[in-house]
Amino acid sequence: MTTFTLRKGSPAKTRSDAVVVGVCTSGGEPVAAPGSEAVVSAYGKKFAAMVRAVGFEGKVGQVAKVPSAGTLKSPLLVLVGLGPADELTVNGVRRGAGIAGRALSKADDVVLALPARDAAEVRAVVEGWLLGGYAFSSYKTAPTPVPADQVTVLTDAARSKDAQAALEAAQVVAAAVARTRDWVNTPPGDLTPPLFADAAVSAAKQVGRKVAVKVLDEKELHAGGFGGIVAVGQGSDSPPRLVRLTYKPRGAKQHLALVGKGITFDSGGLWIKPGASMATMKCDMGGAAAVISATLAIAELGLPIAVTAYAPMAENMVSGTAQRPGDVVTMYGGKTVEVLNTDAEGRLVLGDALVLASEQQPDLVVDVATLTGACEQALGDRVAGVMGNDDELAGRIISAGDRAGEAIWQLPISEEMPVKVRTYSKVADLMQHNVDLYGGALYAAAFLQEFVGEGLPWAHLDIAGPAFNTRSAYGHVPAGGTGVATATLVELATELANG
Ligand code: BES
Ligand code: MN
Ligand code: ZN
Repeated sequence: MTTFTLRKGSPAKTRSDAVVVGVCTSGGEPVAAPGSEAVVSAYGKKFAAMVRAVGFEGKVGQVAKVPSAGTLKSPLLVLVGLGPADELTVNGVRRGAGIAGRALSKADDVVLALPARDAAEVRAVVEGWLLGGYAFSSYKTAPTPVPADQVTVLTDAARSKDAQAALEAAQVVAAAVARTRDWVNTPPGDLTPPLFADAAVSAAKQVGRKVAVKVLDEKELHAGGFGGIVAVGQGSDSPPRLVRLTYKPRGAKQHLALVGKGITFDSGGLWIKPGASMATMKCDMGGAAAVISATLAIAELGLPIAVTAYAPMAENMVSGTAQRPGDVVTMYGGKTVEVLNTDAEGRLVLGDALVLASEQQPDLVVDVATLTGACEQALGDRVAGVMGNDDELAGRIISAGDRAGEAIWQLPISEEMPVKVRTYSKVADLMQHNVDLYGGALYAAAFLQEFVGEGLPWAHLDIAGPAFNTRSAYGHVPAGGTGVATATLVELATELANG
């Protein structure tokens, strides 16, 4: 465990194993970023030459480690590029801190002298550092680096209550994101629906503040009429689950319902995926992991907002008991759905959970799902899509995402989509799958909308792109499970609780 301290002081004169400073660019030349001034002046005229000697320009993504050779009290100086000085943002700080966290996985005692002028920047430094330094090593037999023991964040705001609160919140959020990542990264054979439900129960027990957990097993799901969850899970030897977490602090003015897709592995079912597309499908429970982790973080922070999280969990497999294209499923709440494509399974488990969530008449519902490859086609693998029935809520989620360091763009539910959902099936109330080639993300959202309670503000986050990073780490985002949506949900709840 790392102990974080906020302190006002000079990075040149603070003793540690390594001191991290930001460097910006101005007119193509490296210049001191806020926080690094004392280091730059300790080097004096030699700074420019030293920076040039290590081939460091201050560009975004660059990092260099330099022995300070007596110029500073700490033996190692770490330079992190923050890009053009006049374009420096809080998210740029988070990204830089993430790169430093990854680069310095072996130091024991670190001083961070990155821009930390206010609470938002303090939060970005701490979150970035922790999230960038994340590693999933449970399955590695080689010894893995231990996180730093001591991290001192230098800031003139060290005494401010806001900065102290930001330091605490950043650690809770980073731990929640790491938990989401751990669950996503866990091999799917070790995180079947029953095991995932157990993991959620034990995580909830660890939270000091009261979070009630209820798990429905396959018999209860069948008896309760959760046709979508049962249908998707029926092809697997590991039966489905529905996990509900409830956090209800006294005096809560608002009630937020969260719903997360928990497909622990998506083979596509009988509409089997090509091998290459199946390779990362352990990530298909990323929405469930995010809503569970976020709810526990909201409880840990003691935010005055009630949250109920629903995580339908199932494994989408191929077998003699698997559902078939052409089957009709009666969903929770009674609507019938013609299943056309067994690989469009997420909307079936989510539909049940959305009806259940709506029964409680929360003030708003947000679902999170690795739902469609189409959303990834549209927005790439670093941006989540948001859709829904309330532009104001979508806007709040986008700005919460911006403050949390997660990119989200709005897509429409265009007017033809609900018409298609309701008219394409000749045998059932709704058609599960878009028979047309394009607009898959929008169609899926229109399908989900059928299960949202009348008049309830609802937003749907499609995280199929950003949930799993198949390439190298960047900024505070590692390869593999990214934990996306966790931080945004905590930020949204923070805003709802304070506003
Ligand atoms: N789990 C996938 C979506 C996905 C794709 C997640 C890529 C992460 C990365 C989902 O269940 C799925 O298979 N969707 C289909 C929908 C189609 C059958 C309508 C898809 O995207 O092809
Ligand atoms: Mn699928
Ligand atoms: Zn899926």
